[in-house]
Amino acid sequence: MIIAVDGPTASGKGTIAKALAAHFGLPHLDTGLLYRAVGRQVFLNGGDPNDSADALAATDFPAALLDDPQLRSEDNGGWASRVSVHPAVRTALYERQRAFATQPGGAVLDGRDIGTVIAPEAEAKLFITASVAARAQRRFAEMCERGEAVTLEAIEDDLRRRDERDSTRAVAPLVPAPDAMVIDTSALDRDAAIAAAIAMVECAR
Ligand code: C5P
Repeated sequence: MIIAVDGPTASGKGTIAKALAAHFGLPHLDTGLLYRAVGRQVFLNGGDPNDSADALAATDFPAALLDDPQLRSEDNGGWASRVSVHPAVRTALYERQRAFATQPGGAVLDGRDIGTVIAPEAEAKLFITASVAARAQRRFAEMCERGEAVTLEAIEDDLRRRDERDSTRAVAPLVPAPDAMVIDTSALDRDAAIAAAIAMVECAR
């Protein structure tokens, strides 16, 4: 069984994807991490994330980069969002994601285009969303815990900019697949969101 979990940043899709993988005993791939590694590699190369040749060259990042804690930073999220616009970057990362999705026994993948591009044949497609305010509050709490100084307004602005870029790009924009089941986590706590996702996947298979 392939489970596709798509949605914007800080919607809860990563938490839900991990919980689904544990519940159904499936391997999990956070595809955002691949784009984050490309963004980070462009930075390390001294390149420009808006330049498609610089971004494509960075898809050759070393495997060890996936363990770099810097990948998760807000700044690097912005770099990831910029490199992910280039069709050549998406094509370069396609095979790796496709191979993970189609491994025997199935898999859970989370990202932006899993249900639409990477695994349109997935048995279960979830689209996880939440209001900008709810997502900004979660991100704020996470960053506060890590001791990073930010304001709620700055996070909201950043989320809006990122949503806009991810949803309006020409290739593989962030849109729910027509057959995706939508979960709005704005008013749900972690356990309630996970329970809703498990129930939906049970129903789809
Ligand atoms: O999910 P996460 O916030 O880690 O993703 C970082 C960025 O990578 C996103 O803003 C998006 O632009 C890009 N991305 C993508 N397609 C995916 C996963 C992530 O374009 N499947």
